[in-house]
Amino acid sequence: MADFFKLNEEYYRVPGNFTFKDVYLAEFIRKETLERPELFQIKSDDCFVVSYPKSGTTWTLELTQLIMNNGDTTYTESENHFDRMPFIEFKLPKFPKMDGVKAMQIKESPRLLKSHLPIHLFPSQALHMGCKFIFVVRNPKDTVTSYYNFYQAMPSLYGDYKGDFSNYLKLFMNGKVVYGDWFDFTLGWWKYLNGNNALFLKYEDMKKNPRDATVKIAKYLNYDLGDDVIDKITEYCSFAKMKASKFINFEEIKGRPFLRKGATGDWKNYFTVAEDEAFDEVYNERMKDSGLSFDWE
Ligand code: A3P
Repeated sequence: MADFFKLNEEYYRVPGNFTFKDVYLAEFIRKETLERPELFQIKSDDCFVVSYPKSGTTWTLELTQLIMNNGDTTYTESENHFDRMPFIEFKLPKFPKMDGVKAMQIKESPRLLKSHLPIHLFPSQALHMGCKFIFVVRNPKDTVTSYYNFYQAMPSLYGDYKGDFSNYLKLFMNGKVVYGDWFDFTLGWWKYLNGNNALFLKYEDMKKNPRDATVKIAKYLNYDLGDDVIDKITEYCSFAKMKASKFINFEEIKGRPFLRKGATGDWKNYFTVAEDEAFDEVYNERMKDSGLSFDWE
């Protein structure tokens, strides 16, 4: 790690933070299920959307759910996003309906489930049962930018973060944000997804060609949808439409909505030139053998 991102001892810690198998986590992640993954009662026809936070998870989930409902929006408009798609490792008394393990149990199959767990913390039985995996990844500069804003928008999860972006970037580069090191997370899943029956999506590709993402997800899940249905789903999940939907977007703090900018390249408004150069140095070293590349604009 370049000295540039060195953290001092007094770095910001989220409420109830703990480290499990080297991953920095928060109190809203149920430790019991990490120790006993069998508590997740996985079914072979489950479909998981897996991602590092702020990579386009919500967008991918909404697209996938509409595909699984053949474009019918009735279910989407019946409950808010978090209650429709169980977030499997989540548990916080303040949000009782979002208890992941319980929420999974009451959903009908085939279930659409969300997780941000790195592969080595993911319930391993799911990897051997024929479950579907849609992995969505976003360039890490925009990911950290989005995550920085999200920390400030969601004090019930992340506490009272008052640091500036430079400080946050140091936390991110040291794996001291919730769900830990982006590089470990991405490389871990990427290694697994290559060669397994999984769908890999990049946020930047989805932005460039959203219809293509809808087509890919439908094909992966074996839904034979007409062009008009594909168009309808794609349009329904446009940033503007999702932002306007009370079933998808929300604000914990006025003026800080869950759906923020929905753009690629916003990192340029946050990184200094020096931070960008130091980031690239780490990125090039950590990703050099991965075969994975990103659009940054
Ligand atoms: P920004 O903070 O950059 O706006 P996740 O769902 O994984 O938490 O990711 C959230 C990010 O995806 C946010 O990024 C959010 O605005 C963006 N996003 C959500 N829905 C989107 C859509 N339909 N089109 C483009 N971006 C979207």
